[in-house]
Amino acid sequence: MPQNPSFAAPTAVRLLRYTRAEQDEILGGGDDPFGVAATGLSWLPKEDHFGVRHGDRLVAHAGLLRLSGAAGDTGTEVVGVGGVAVAPDVRGQGLARLVIAAALEHARTMGPRHALLFCRPPLVPLYQRLGWCPLNEAVLVEQPDSRLVTMPLPTMVTPLHDNAHWPSGPVRLFSLPM
Ligand SMILES: CC(C)(COP(=O)(O)OP(=O)(O)OC[C@H]1O[C@@H](n2cnc3c(N)ncnc32)[C@H](O)[C@@H]1OP(=O)(O)O)[C@@H](O)C(=O)NCCC(=O)NCCS
Repeated sequence: MPQNPSFAAPTAVRLLRYTRAEQDEILGGGDDPFGVAATGLSWLPKEDHFGVRHGDRLVAHAGLLRLSGAAGDTGTEVVGVGGVAVAPDVRGQGLARLVIAAALEHARTMGPRHALLFCRPPLVPLYQRLGWCPLNEAVLVEQPDSRLVTMPLPTMVTPLHDNAHWPSGPVRLFSLPM
């Protein structure tokens, strides 16, 4: 980071693991580090993890998970992106852009034609800046006890391959959200 010449050119790497302690290291713990507790939703853990280290410290993370769903009448798979986090003292320096780019590079090898994420409304412009588009469709997600609920947060998608067009129609995930 600019404050530390030894961290002039951060790079994002794939992480072998990502624990709650590492998330706390980035976001500082707290009951609601992503600001989504008010939704009352249950979320899936991510399976693939990407991060940026500053010395021994993990300062940024993005996670991935392959999910099945449907858009309109079309069954589809997507790569869900979640757990995007950058430590407060190093925000605004492009680390979210960097770690999401590394995650999406891997997502392009996973098969699905799109990546999808949910975010709080104030973050929509940030993800648009990174090339994501808001999905103006209702998105149904599963919750424990087989409940189906409409996702109250904005949904963003980005193509992972050339000529990938998101199908029109209501969207459903056949799982908890990520
Ligand atoms: C959201 C968060 C990950 C952003 O991290 P960050 O490292 O500050 O983001 P970056 O510096 O990489 O910014 C990414 C891009 O968005 C832009 N941007 C940032 N805020 C923006 C805004 N309000 N409107 C439009 N663009 C914005 C930046 O300028 C940058 O674009 P550029 O590279 O072309 O300049 C970080 O604030 C965070 O961890 N928040 C708490 C956890 C959270 O809410 N995670 C999101 C879960 S969906």
